[in-house]
Amino acid sequence: MNEPLFGIENLDGYIVIGIVLFFSLLETFAGYLTATKRTFGDWIQEAGGFLVLSFIIKPFIVFIAFFLGKSLIPNVQNAVANLNLFLILLVYLLIDDVLQYWYHRFGHEYQFLWTLHRPHHQAEEMGFFVSYRNAGLYYLLMPNIWWVGIVIFLGGLKAVAIGLIAKQIIIIGSHSTVRWDESLYKYKSLNPLTFVLERIFITPAFHYAHHGKSMIDGISDPNGNYGNMFSIWDQLFGTAKFTRQFPTEIGLVNDPKDNWTASYFYPLIKSDKPESEIARGFQKEKTVKAEPTICEFKESEKYLYCRCGRSKNQPFCDGSHHGTKFKPLFCEAKRTGKAKLCNCKLTKSPPFCDNSHKEF
Ligand code: FES
Repeated sequence: MNEPLFGIENLDGYIVIGIVLFFSLLETFAGYLTATKRTFGDWIQEAGGFLVLSFIIKPFIVFIAFFLGKSLIPNVQNAVANLNLFLILLVYLLIDDVLQYWYHRFGHEYQFLWTLHRPHHQAEEMGFFVSYRNAGLYYLLMPNIWWVGIVIFLGGLKAVAIGLIAKQIIIIGSHSTVRWDESLYKYKSLNPLTFVLERIFITPAFHYAHHGKSMIDGISDPNGNYGNMFSIWDQLFGTAKFTRQFPTEIGLVNDPKDNWTASYFYPLIKSDKPESEIARGFQKEKTVKAEPTICEFKESEKYLYCRCGRSKNQPFCDGSHHGTKFKPLFCEAKRTGKAKLCNCKLTKSPPFCDNSHKEF
C-alpha cells in the first residue's frame, strides 16, 4: 500500500523543503548572501533548477514510471508493500546511490553527459543550491529518479519518502557553505568517529574536493569523489580521495562562462561562445605529437601533466580531459633543471619521454 509517511499527505515533500529552508537560513546567517558573487544566471540555474526538478521533472518521471508499470506489469504493483520497511529502505538507498555514482561518473567520462553535467562544475562558489545545478536533460535521464518511480510503483513510497529526506540532508549538507565536518577535524579524540563517518557518508570536505578547480592544489580531485550519499562506492571503485581539507578555488579551468540558457537547455540551445564545449560544431581535437618538449622546472615545482592528449597547452593539462576517462598526472619536480616531457602519450614512464614516440 502506498500510505503517506506517518499518515500525513506529502510530509516528505514538506520535510525536504524544510531542509532547504534550514540550510538557506544557516548560509544566510553565515554571510553567504552578502558575500556571494553569483550572477543572475547562477541564481536562475540553481534556484530555478531546484523548482523545475522538484515540481516538474520528478513528478513527470514518477507519473511515466507508474503509467508504464500499470500498462506492462500490473501484477507487480505494490509487490513489496508488506515487506519490512527497513529492508526496503536499505535496498532502495543502496541501489539509488550506486546508480547515482555511475551516472555521475559517466557524466565526467563521456562527452555528451559531461555537457549536461558541466553546469554543476561551473559554479565558482559552493552552496546548497549548487546541488540542483545541471542541465534539465541531465535530470530527465537520471536513472535514480526513474528508480524512485519504480520503487513507488512497487509499493515502497514510505521508504522513498524517508530515503529522500536522509539523502537531502547529506547531499545539501555536502554542498553547503556551512561545513559541518570542519569542527570534527580539529579534535584528535574524535578521529576514530570521523574516520568511520567519512568512510560511510559524503562529507563536505570529500565533496568540495570534487568541485575544486584543479588537482594542482593537492586537495582537489574533480575526476574523483563521485559519491552522492555514501562514500563506499568511491572506495570500492578506486576514486576516493580523503584529505579533510577544502580547496580554495571552485569551478572549471578555462570556463567560457556560457549564458545560463545554453547551460540549462543544452542541446536545444547552444552557447554563443565559440570556445565553449557546448557551442555549435565544437570538437575536442587530439593535440598529441611525436616529439617531446623540453621543460624547465624549479625544485618542488608542481605541475599537471596531460594524459588525455587533448590539451592545447601540451604537455600540461588545460582541463580539456573533462568528458573523457582520463585525468592529469600530478607531478612535482625533484630538482631544478630541464626535463623532457612526453607528448605522444605512449611513454611507459609518464611524464617523461622514453622515446616511445619513435613507434608513433
Ligand atoms: S587536458 Fe587534462 S589530462 Fe589532458
